[in-house]
Amino acid sequence: MENVTKFKALVVEKTPDKQFVREIRERSMDDLPTGDLVVRVHYSSLNYKDALSATGHPGVTRQFPHTPGIDAAGEVVSCEGGAFAPGEKVIVTGYDLGMETDGGWGQYIRIPSAWAVRLPEGLTLREGMALGTAGFTAALSVLKLERAGVKPGDGDILVTGATGGVGSIAVSILAVAGYRVVASTGKEADEDFLKELGAVAVIGRDEVVAGAEKTLLAERWAGAVDVVGGATLAAVLKSTRYGGTVTCCGLVGSPELPVNVYPFILRGVSLLGIDSVQCPRDTREEVWQRLAAGWKPARLADMVTECTLTGLEVMIQAILHGGITGRVVVNLRES
Ligand SMILES: NC(=O)c1ccc[n+]([C@@H]2O[C@H](COP(=O)([O-])OP(=O)(O)OC[C@H]3O[C@@H](n4cnc5c(N)ncnc54)[C@H](OP(=O)(O)O)[C@@H]3O)[C@@H](O)[C@H]2O)c1
Repeated sequence: MENVTKFKALVVEKTPDKQFVREIRERSMDDLPTGDLVVRVHYSSLNYKDALSATGHPGVTRQFPHTPGIDAAGEVVSCEGGAFAPGEKVIVTGYDLGMETDGGWGQYIRIPSAWAVRLPEGLTLREGMALGTAGFTAALSVLKLERAGVKPGDGDILVTGATGGVGSIAVSILAVAGYRVVASTGKEADEDFLKELGAVAVIGRDEVVAGAEKTLLAERWAGAVDVVGGATLAAVLKSTRYGGTVTCCGLVGSPELPVNVYPFILRGVSLLGIDSVQCPRDTREEVWQRLAAGWKPARLADMVTECTLTGLEVMIQAILHGGITGRVVVNLRES
C-alpha cells in the first residue's frame, strides 16, 4: 500500500448548539472506517443528497464528524480480498458511501470492495463522476422505461427538473437513444442548454402542474422521468397516455404524492420506483456499460462545472436552492 498517512477531506461537524459547520481538514488513514478496499479518489461529484448530508439532514447522515460524497472515482491502493488489483480504476456510487461512511469528498476512501465497479472502457474517471449517481440514476430510469416497453416512436417522453443532475443526463440519454424528449424546467434561461442536450421542446414547471386538481388531464406523455415528486409527479401521472410508464426517483418538490387511482385503473399507467443505492450488481454493471457506450451523453463535457474542495461551499448552497445547471465534478487531486 502507498505510504500515505495524511490527506485532505471536507469534514462536516455538528456544534454543541446543533449547527453544522464545514471545513477542509487534514485527516489520517486511521480515521477511515473499516473495509477491504482502499481507493485514492481522483474525482467526486455533488448531488442533492450530498448537500443534505453536508447541512446535517438527518435523513442522510446522523453521525458527525463526517465526510460527504456519495460518488467517488479513483485508483485502487489496496484490496485485501483480491477483487481488485492495485492501480485498477474504479467507480463507487451508492450503498452507504457518503451517508454514514466517509465519502468521496476526501482524497482516500476505505470501503467494502463489493461497492466498487471497474471503470468501464470508454469512460475516464472524470467522465464517470460527471455522470456519478445522477447519471447512474438517469440511466437506470431510462433502462426501466425501456424494459417496460416504452420505445422511441411511442410519443413524447417528459423529463422534470430537467436542468438538474438527473434531469439533464436523462434528457441527453433519451435523446441519444432516439426518444422525443420534452424537458420541463423552472429555469427559462436554460432553454437553449436543454435543446442542445437534445430536447425537442422545453416547457415551464407551471405548465406541467396546470389543472393538477382535476381527476385526470389530457393524455400527453408516452413516458416520463420524474425527479420532483409531489404535485408535479401527480400531474405527470394524470397526463400520461394509456399504457404509459413513469419513473420516480426524487423529491425536490415534495416526498408526498397527492394522486388518485384513476391514471392506474382507467389508463393502465405504470409508476416505477428507481433506487440507485441498493441497485443489484448485475443491473449496476449493465447501467455503467450502457453509459460508457451508446448512452454516453454527447455533450457530457459541456454539462460539467469543476471545483475543488474549497469551491464546494458555494455549490452546496446553489444545489439546495435548485440553482445548478448540469453536474458539478469535484477534483480531489488538485484539492
Ligand atoms: N432514487 C435515487 O436513487 C436517487 C438518485 C439520485 C438522485 N435522487 C433524487 O433525485 C432528485 C434530483 O437529484 P439531482 O441530483 O438531479 O438534483 P438537482 O441537480 O438539484 O436537480 C433537481 C432539479 O429539480 C428542479 N427543482 C428544484 N426544486 C424544485 C421544486 N421545488 N419544484 C420543482 N422542481 C424543482 C430544478 O430543475 P429545473 O429548474 O430545471 O426545474 C433542479 O435543478 C433529488 O430528490 C435526489 O435526492 C434519487
